Amino acid sequence: MTHRIGIIGGDGVGPEVVAEAMKVVDAAGVAYTPVVFDLGGARYLRDGEVLPDADLEAIRGLDAVMLGAVGTPEVAPGVLERGLLLRLRFELDLFVNLRPFVAGPSSLNDGVDMVVIRENTEGVYAGEGGFLRKGTPNEIATQGSVNTRLGVERCVRFAFELAASRGRKHLTLVHKTNVLQFAGDLWQRVFDEVAAEFGSVETAYHHVDAACIYLVQDPARYDVVVTDNLFGDILTDLGGAVSGGIGRAASANLNPTRTSPSVFEPVHGSAPDIAGTGKADPRAAIVSAAMMMEFLGKEDAAQRVREAIEKTEDVTGSTSEIGDAIAEQVQ
Ligand code: NAI
Ligand code: MG
Repeated sequence: MTHRIGIIGGDGVGPEVVAEAMKVVDAAGVAYTPVVFDLGGARYLRDGEVLPDADLEAIRGLDAVMLGAVGTPEVAPGVLERGLLLRLRFELDLFVNLRPFVAGPSSLNDGVDMVVIRENTEGVYAGEGGFLRKGTPNEIATQGSVNTRLGVERCVRFAFELAASRGRKHLTLVHKTNVLQFAGDLWQRVFDEVAAEFGSVETAYHHVDAACIYLVQDPARYDVVVTDNLFGDILTDLGGAVSGGIGRAASANLNPTRTSPSVFEPVHGSAPDIAGTGKADPRAAIVSAAMMMEFLGKEDAAQRVREAIEKTEDVTGSTSEIGDAIAEQVQ
């Protein structure tokens, strides 16, 4: 069966790293039909469209989407994040954002092998809030955090299932329960309830500020971490920085119930500072593509890509030279 894969290169280094990721998918022998979408800052500046309904409907019919990154300095912050990235996450119900961090021998933190599960559809990113008296000296802005039992529980359950399937079987809840007494209370209660069903998984709880210290000082202590949308966004940039750099941090926006396609993308953005220079490391996008292959049932191809990345750990060079080296190793 040929998978239909949506390709959203996006802006800046996005199309550069996605090209290398698909080069490696080709080399791994996974057959697919690419469905290319012209979305991102360039499209928005040209015709004002961020995610036309027709494109969204076309995406719904696909098996998976590979996304580079969106954002250009000319587009106001928020337009593409809310209109494209968050809209895809909400519309396709991509409720798990899975971000693995595996540090290789060349990293200061060799031995780190952790996964962060970030809730991907709620929290402060749900867009609840508003302005009162905007633009006046008395203006008020509120930004609420939305936490539903259903949303928290399905994410926490996914994290327990993942932890139970791994060697260490350890899961840490990260939140700020001492201050966020409502959202934190719901997260903690749901976590404890689901924990009772997973006797084999050892659990821990860390406040998010303490987790930042531990991630820098002793990241190898973590196996699986589950957290809310905002904390997960921040923690995973830090996770990337301590495990080989943002050029290697991959992510999957999953709809585990498979009622719509999942979206795979590097953690990094469009990096306008290095776009067009060939300095972008394509590994984050390539690992994201490996996660996509695994999700599509091509575990063997995904494993070969992971091994090829390990074997080419020390390869330096341009974006396409690194992609070529990994593709060659995969064949
Ligand atoms: P960024 O991740 O694009 O860049 C941060 C730093 O990391 C820069 O110094 C950049 O050169 C470096 N970097 C990023 N990717 C790299 C790679 N593959 N190899 C080597 N170095 C790399 O984040 P920034 O600067 O905050 O955002 C730039 C634009 O990207 C903004 O428009 C932002 O909104 C957008 N963005 C989009 C995301 C997405 O599409 N999912 C995620 C994050 C940011
Ligand atoms: Mg981020």
